[in-house]
Amino acid sequence: MLFTLLRRAIVPQTGQKSGIADRFTFQCFSLSMRIMMKPMTQSPLNIFRTVLEWRTFRSTLPPDQFMAFVPTMGALHEGHGSLVKLAGEIAGRGGHVCASIFVNPTQFGPGEDFTRYPRPLAADVELLTKWGAQSLFAPEGEEMYPHNEPAVTVDPGPMADILEGAIRPGHFRGVCTVVAKLLHIIAPTHLLLGQKDFQQQLILCRMVMDFNFPLEVITVPTVREPDGLAMSSRNRYLNADDRAKATAIYDGLQRAAAQIHSGQRDAAVVCRTIRETIAGTGLSVDYALACHPETLQPHEPLIQGPCLLLAAARAGSTRLIDNVMA
Ligand code: PAJ
Repeated sequence: MLFTLLRRAIVPQTGQKSGIADRFTFQCFSLSMRIMMKPMTQSPLNIFRTVLEWRTFRSTLPPDQFMAFVPTMGALHEGHGSLVKLAGEIAGRGGHVCASIFVNPTQFGPGEDFTRYPRPLAADVELLTKWGAQSLFAPEGEEMYPHNEPAVTVDPGPMADILEGAIRPGHFRGVCTVVAKLLHIIAPTHLLLGQKDFQQQLILCRMVMDFNFPLEVITVPTVREPDGLAMSSRNRYLNADDRAKATAIYDGLQRAAAQIHSGQRDAAVVCRTIRETIAGTGLSVDYALACHPETLQPHEPLIQGPCLLLAAARAGSTRLIDNVMA
């Protein structure tokens, strides 16, 4: 059942699999089989607020032990849960699962929701414990940025100039900088990221490769609400009306994917379907794109080869993003 859901999320239904889809399918299949066979246990969560506390603890762990790491900004939901649970499977019995919660100021632009971003730490600790994480690194702002703005930052490269990067200038520089810092601090063997933030995971994979971080990146399929809306910490900002409209994002992506599966190759037609489905509810569309999943280059004018459909929309001041492989 889980395998079927995972396959649906990641395998193009044209019958032609991309390299990415193959890799996801294999990893997710073997891991999901192990999830189903594992008995659930709960042990207390160790919480570390400083780099020194974490490093002191980290140095007591066997150096060859797997350390599976899930970076988050908190306000956790079942999407984060699927990453943490998979981290547990990867770490195995002798390994360790560490999550972090840090609302990273450097990835928020002026006028974005940094101040109002939800910070329900007690509820997050409860969820992480339930999902089987062993450690939580939850530093304060000054611990991560003692000199306020960092003088040296990570250049996220050209893939950060488009889509989310074009709308949120500086966002991916902030993401790469904080994740690079977290990787140096946590020293994981595995980094788990969500497919929901597709552009983010692609840029971070590239950073890991280009900077020779000694770890493996695992990308986990998007977890959705029963009506299809991708789970997101920002969904809690939506009022009932906008929450109902927000389902149009996944609807539009699915309709467009169905067009591709029935032979439509005109990228403009497919993108118009996404736009019109979303805009038809009154949400405003930031972008709708059919692109190559490894480069994010638009398929234009025809869709040829593996295709990722991406959309971003606004419900009031809340931005929502989603994507599907077609
Ligand atoms: P955050 O939005 O908290 O997301 C943490 C991780 O959870 C990311 O890898 C994200 O892609 C994944 N995730 C979120 N919603 C998901 C869903 N519905 N299904 C599956 N995975 C989901 O992304 C960030 O934080 C930050 O940018 C961070 C990487 C922590 C750097 O600050």
